[in-house]
Amino acid sequence: MSPISRVVIDVVKNKMSGERPMPKCLYIILITSSLIIIVFFLIKQNLDYIQSKPFKVKFWNNAFIHDNFTREERTQIMCINGTTSTIISSSRPVNPSHVCHNKISHLKSYCDLIPNPNHNWVSAKRYKESDLMFIIVSGAKFYHTRAMTVRDTWLSRVTNYYILSSTPYSYLPVTVIPNTGEDYLSNMKKTFYGMPVIYKEQLAKPVEMRQKWFYLIGDDTYVNVRHLIKRLDPYDYQQAYFVGGSSGKEVCYEVDGTRNPITFGGGGAGLLFSWKLFELLQPNLTDYVDNKWVKTNAMSDVAIACLIQRVGYQLTYVNGFWPLTPARMVQLSGRAAMNQDPEPNNFHYVQPPEMIDLDEFYSFQYIDRLANDQNLQELTEFTRLFVKKYYELVRKKQKECTLPPITS
Ligand SMILES: *[C@@H]1O[C@H](CO)[C@@H](O)[C@H](O)[C@H]1NC(C)=O
Ligand SMILES: *[C@@H]1O[C@H](CO)[C@@H](O)[C@H](O)[C@H]1NC(C)=O
Ligand SMILES: *[C@@H]1O[C@H](CO)[C@@H](O)[C@H](O)[C@H]1NC(C)=O
Repeated sequence: MSPISRVVIDVVKNKMSGERPMPKCLYIILITSSLIIIVFFLIKQNLDYIQSKPFKVKFWNNAFIHDNFTREERTQIMCINGTTSTIISSSRPVNPSHVCHNKISHLKSYCDLIPNPNHNWVSAKRYKESDLMFIIVSGAKFYHTRAMTVRDTWLSRVTNYYILSSTPYSYLPVTVIPNTGEDYLSNMKKTFYGMPVIYKEQLAKPVEMRQKWFYLIGDDTYVNVRHLIKRLDPYDYQQAYFVGGSSGKEVCYEVDGTRNPITFGGGGAGLLFSWKLFELLQPNLTDYVDNKWVKTNAMSDVAIACLIQRVGYQLTYVNGFWPLTPARMVQLSGRAAMNQDPEPNNFHYVQPPEMIDLDEFYSFQYIDRLANDQNLQELTEFTRLFVKKYYELVRKKQKECTLPPITS
């Protein structure tokens, strides 16, 4: 028994037997030691509790997300129509779409055109963004408009890309494909001569640095990269795959006069080649455009499908490759058709102002989904990437732009 306890017991004994009054200092000792014991047990209990409960949300991210998104469960949810309803399950709060609920004016029209899921985001399982190579066919007369807008919007967050053209321009990372010209027919050569250039640069890289899929598009296509990558989940890049949508029927215009029927994937919505197919096409690309395809025909998407058919493969049709803008898609196919695919890969014929709007709309949509899902990891990744790219862009713009002189 410790000396303090002995004193305390003695004092209590004395007090109880009423022999003599207890000194004041002993009262203090008695109270202090009980307090120490109580505090000790409280701390111990808390430590046991903390050790038994892994933290769901790391504390240094707390300031990042407001209170609603850090709770694990809630019973009240806000409905899209503005009412509140009680949910029985342990599902999470689903806040309404930021854009559509708050009626952000310049984006509002998209709320009636584009499916706008605001939770349950599932990312791609098989491939990541850097597994893709984006091949964008452009031309000098579009550098300042379409190409620049693509660079500044969705492409700004892409790791690997080529902008194929025939005129160099130091303000845009253009890969010049020689002897292609800048007319409408030049798209054919930029595509067929450009792919061997890209293939050569791929071979120069270590295998683990090479891309697994090659996505060929024009500079007026808005791409939702996250959705596109998900679409590739079922396909093995080591098998030959030619993936696309918005398909049509045509014939192959070949110089020997044959006109074999073909189902082609629309080039505006973009075409995906697996690494394996990309490799298989190499020996025949320049030969096909120089010697087999009718020179006056500019349908490069039909031509590529014809070459692929010759090599022995067909288009694998998948949904969500939209050949038009959202408004024209709804006009043509109706809202129901659009709603069938809540995560489209792209829109085509998108002019620069709309390119910016779509990129903003989908960035907000992604944030809504991650926030409602309490997917803090992806939300943090996206925000950091977005901030990084934003400042890169501000620096580029500072070098590029000279504003008109100020006159009074
Ligand atoms: C959390 O959500 C509720 C209902 O969904 C809302 O009324 C409240 O304002 C939200 N809190 C914050 C901090 O945004
Ligand atoms: C709002 O939506 C909820 C859930 O769908 C529904 O129960 C409720 O009746 C709706 N309220 C109004 C005012 O439409
Ligand atoms: C592709 O090129 C190879 C090698 O030059 C040739 O043997 C083959 O016939 C060509 N295939 C097609 C479909 O043109």
